[in-house]
Parts: sequence; structure tokens; C-alpha cells
Amino acid sequence: MCGIVGYVGEKKAQDFLISGLKRLEYRGYDSAGIVTIDEDKNATLVRAKGKIKNLEEKLAKEKRDDKIGIGHTRWATHGEPSERNAHPHQSGSIYLVHNGIIENYKELKQELGKYEFKSETDSEVLAALIDSFYQDGKYPLTNAVVQALKLVKGTYGIAVVSALNPDEIVVARSGSPLIVGVGHNETLVASDASAIVGHTKHAIYLNDGEVATIKKNSIEIKTLNAEPVSAKVEEIETNLAAIQKGGYEHFLLKEIMEQPESLTETLRGRVRTEEGIVHLGGPGLTEAELRKIKHLIIVGCGTAYHAGLLASYYIEQFTPEITVETVIASEYRYRQAYIPEDAVALIVSQSGETADTLACLREIKKQGIKTIGIVNVIGSTIAREVDGGTYVHVGPEISVASTKAFTSQVIAMVMFGLTIAQAKGVKKSVLRPYVLEIAEMPEEIKKVLGNVKDEVEKIAKKYAKYEHAIYLGRDTAYPTAMEGALKLKEISYVDANAYAFGELKHGPLALVDDRFFEVAFLPEGALYEKAVSNVQEVLARGGHVLAVTNVEEFDLPVENVVKITTSIEIFAPVLMNLVSQLLAYYMTVAKGYNVDQPRNLAKSVTVE
Ligand code: AGP
Ligand code: GLU
Repeated sequence: MCGIVGYVGEKKAQDFLISGLKRLEYRGYDSAGIVTIDEDKNATLVRAKGKIKNLEEKLAKEKRDDKIGIGHTRWATHGEPSERNAHPHQSGSIYLVHNGIIENYKELKQELGKYEFKSETDSEVLAALIDSFYQDGKYPLTNAVVQALKLVKGTYGIAVVSALNPDEIVVARSGSPLIVGVGHNETLVASDASAIVGHTKHAIYLNDGEVATIKKNSIEIKTLNAEPVSAKVEEIETNLAAIQKGGYEHFLLKEIMEQPESLTETLRGRVRTEEGIVHLGGPGLTEAELRKIKHLIIVGCGTAYHAGLLASYYIEQFTPEITVETVIASEYRYRQAYIPEDAVALIVSQSGETADTLACLREIKKQGIKTIGIVNVIGSTIAREVDGGTYVHVGPEISVASTKAFTSQVIAMVMFGLTIAQAKGVKKSVLRPYVLEIAEMPEEIKKVLGNVKDEVEKIAKKYAKYEHAIYLGRDTAYPTAMEGALKLKEISYVDANAYAFGELKHGPLALVDDRFFEVAFLPEGALYEKAVSNVQEVLARGGHVLAVTNVEEFDLPVENVVKITTSIEIFAPVLMNLVSQLLAYYMTVAKGYNVDQPRNLAKSVTVE
């Protein structure tokens, strides 16, 4: 949710910590803090409410050469965003930063009667608990951390230092990511690889239940049960350019505009147009296993859920005798759903860390069902826990609103569907049009973005005065409408909701008045005329309709229309979603809100 950084080495820790926090700011950003310790065991703790730049301003007056420290950017779960509640939290000589939630903090707090607590956070209780086992250095810091963690219920990624011991950091994880960067005479800690990119290419991804004792030239990893772990040092694939704005004003616009390239990466080596087939290596299912699949369950949250829903419409079109059910992870994890044994589950997540999605994955695995990840972040928890998977390879997605990941998730899932259909012996003539269109998508995305960008900007300015919006579509345009509405609401704070056209008359039509505008997705196809009739019904009630269509002769008297000129037919709704992305972007710019870091949200939701 939030960000953790740590440094032990020969350079000024403050420099790495602050630059690392800035790179992680997109994950959570209501307050931040760092602590560093000098050789004489003096700690300097600086915390600030709000953005990292507030912390940076305070730090300018507290410059230190200390060579060890930890830092945090917070997304509050317990206690308001304030300096007092910001991490690191101190207890005695112990300083701790924490990602996640300590569920039994109230009970633990009671047992720690002699401690005085300065914040309302659950995290401070863990700092005190560690201090109670540490006993001013009587026991090794790692032992104290392990003792404390054995009593904790909940999720955590933590980094801990003691002022009495200025050469080691102890880190541990259970449910929140932690990466240890292996440098030359320095070791770095981060909850997200982007913080250490440019410092080292070598990293160890900690697993749940592991604790690492980190010094500038050594990393010792054990499980909570004291079993030694031989860690694998992996290469970090992200480069610096991928986490910078590259000339764009906002990450969101950069990420929208780079979809031709990001989708190309998703497709690389996986589409064989001459043969009319796709070839996915990752899922690791044999032809016989693929043939046996009768049910697909697609699990995700937010945009990943919408991607799954859209993909399910496509997969049903060409895969015979298969049911596809797309579910919201936070609901599904508590349902008593029966999963037939000839099912496979697709676990969809950009970050690969979403708590609810991860919990579903674990539940589904318990039932002996094969799980396949559709994940972006390499080495993320979901990517490591699934039985097989397909990385979407879109590169870091920094803006909180997900854009390029959605496009690639949809196509990657359709490719998985095609893989099943191929194994089941579906005629090539049925599958070929899908394969050919997939291959053309990057080029067509480029064309559409180039053609509609300025036009959508103008339209967005006109609609920026609205506080309410209705997104409408049917068939594959319905999940498209849902995703469009989510994009608008999350960054421009417009109360935007999506409905299937057919549902209008069953309630939502009552809403239509001058407070609302309506976005209608009208792809060419069998249901086009029916959707047009539904638009007429909205127009007859004075609706302010923005139509998005690829039908050339479209001539309804709507307020605005964005026409998409493309050779793509089947996946036209995916192209229409580009209009939604741009509309949300430009409306947010027009309203003057923070595009990349909308209020109340965080990029990666690692708590329930
Ligand atoms: C999308 O714009 C969101 N910010 C959000 O809905 C996101 O898609 C969701 O939290 C799932 O994240 P994940 O793909 O990293 O699992
Ligand atoms: N639960 C902790 C708090 O509210 C940590 C939240 C986070 O992950 O940022 O401070």
C-alpha cells in the first residue's frame, strides 16, 4: 500500500531514502518519514504530513551524513494522516516502518501496559513489542523481531533499526512485498523495485514468513522458525526511463500514449499470424490439461476485474462448451462457491500484490484448482504463488489509474482463451480473425490515439462542469462502459456509473436530467441497432450524450460524437476504452485535480 525504503552502506542514507520515497510516492502518500542513525548511536527522526516534498523541506534543516536508515510513505489505515501517526515509529531505541495491518494490535497494546503510545497506529504497537523483547540490546535485534512477529496477526512488511546498533536493518514480510537490493558495499531495502532501480540490478525478493538481517556486505535470511533460507539473487528488469515521465506532464498521459508499445511487449513472440495461432509459454498446461478445461474463473479487483469481464465475453464467443465466470476478489474470497474440478482460475493483477486477489488465489489453490496469473509486476507475490502464468510486460504503471495494464490484460486473457480453443480443436477459421486482429492492435491503438486525442481534449473541457455521468454499453461494450466509469470517478471525482443498455428502462433512465451527461459506446455489430434505440430513449428525455462509435454512417443527433476509424472490428471496444482514458485524463486536468495521485487511493492495495 505504502512504501518502505532502507539503506545501509557507505553513502549518505538520507539521499537514497528520500529519492526512493519519491519513487514510491505513487503507492500511498498521506505522510512520510525517515530515521537515520550515526556512528555514535544518535538517531535523527524526521516526519511530515502530506507529500514527500514536505518531508524534503524539513530534512533540508536536518542534513546528516549517517550511513544507515529507513523510510516510509504512509497510506493510513489506523489513525488520521498526521505527523504523529507517520512512520517510522519509535519505542526505546527501536525504530520501525510498517506496511499492512496488525489485526490484534489492541490485545497486544493491553499486554504492553508499561508503554506509552504516541500515535493511534497499529504499527507503533509492533515497535513497542519488538522493544520489549530487545531489552536495550540484551538480545540480538533479529531475535527480538522474530519473537514479536510470532505474536502478531495480520499483514506486514517491516524494516526495523535500533539506535544501539547502527550497522544492521532487520526486515520481514507476511503479505506485503519487500525487496533487498544487493549493491557494492551497500544493501538497499524497498517495497517496490522502482525505488532501487539505478542503484543496483541485483535483488532478493523476500517470501512470506522470512526475516532478513541486513548489513552493508551481508544478507542473512531465515524463516520465523529459524530455518536458514538460501536466497536467489534476481535481476531487476525495470530501467530508469520506465519510471520517469519522459516529457509528459503526467504519468497517466504517458501511460495512455505508450499503449502501442506496451501491448507490443505483451504480444512479443506470442502471436503467429501466418499459422493463425497464439503461443503462450507461461501457463505451463499440457494440451491434455487444456482440453479438459470446462470452466474458467477470472478473479480480480477494479480495473483488473473489468478486464476479466471483457475477456470473458470474448472467450465465450470462440471456446465451445466452456463457462467463464468473472468475480470480484473481495467478494469471492468469502463466498462458499463450489468450483468444479475441471476448472482453471485466472488471477488478474497489475501489481501482483492486491490483498483480496492474493487471498482468493490461496483459497482456490487449497481446493486443488490450477491457477494461472495474468500479472504485470515481475517477481510479485501473485506471480510467484500461481501455478503458471503470463506476464503482460507493460512495464511499470505508476499512475494510480490503470490504463495500459487493462488493455494488455484483456488481450492476454483472450490469448489464454485462444490457447484453450486451439487445444480443443476449434476450427482455425473461427480463431484466425481474433489472432489477426490481436496482431494489428498495437498499430491501430497508435492510429486511434493520434486521431482522437485533441478532439477528446476539447470535448472533455465541455463536460468538465458535470458532477454526474452515466456510461452505457451492451455486450463487449458493457465492461468497456464499466471501466470508463471507474476511470472517470477515480481521478476526476465525477459520480460516474455504468449500466448495460438493456438495464436502462429498469431504473437508471429515471436519472437522466441536466445534471448528467451520458457516454454511449456503440460498436458496429449485431446489437448496434438495439443500442441505438436505447440512445434514442435517452435523447428523448433530454440526455447530454457523447457517443463513441466505429460506425461511419452514425448520424444520431447526439451532443458530441467521437468516431473511431479502424480496421479492428472484434476488439473495437478495447479501442473505445482509449477514449474513456483520455476523457478521464482531460476532464481531471480541466478540473485541476491531481491526475496521478487521486485522493484516498493508492496504487497497490495490500490491505483488505
Ligand atoms: C484502477 O484504475 C484502479 N486504481 C484499481 O481499480 C486497480 O485496478 C485494482 O486495485 C487492482 O489492482 P491490481 O491490478 O494491481 O491487482
Ligand atoms: N497500518 C499502518 C498505519 O496505519 C500502516 C499503513 C500503511 O501500510 O501505510 O500506519
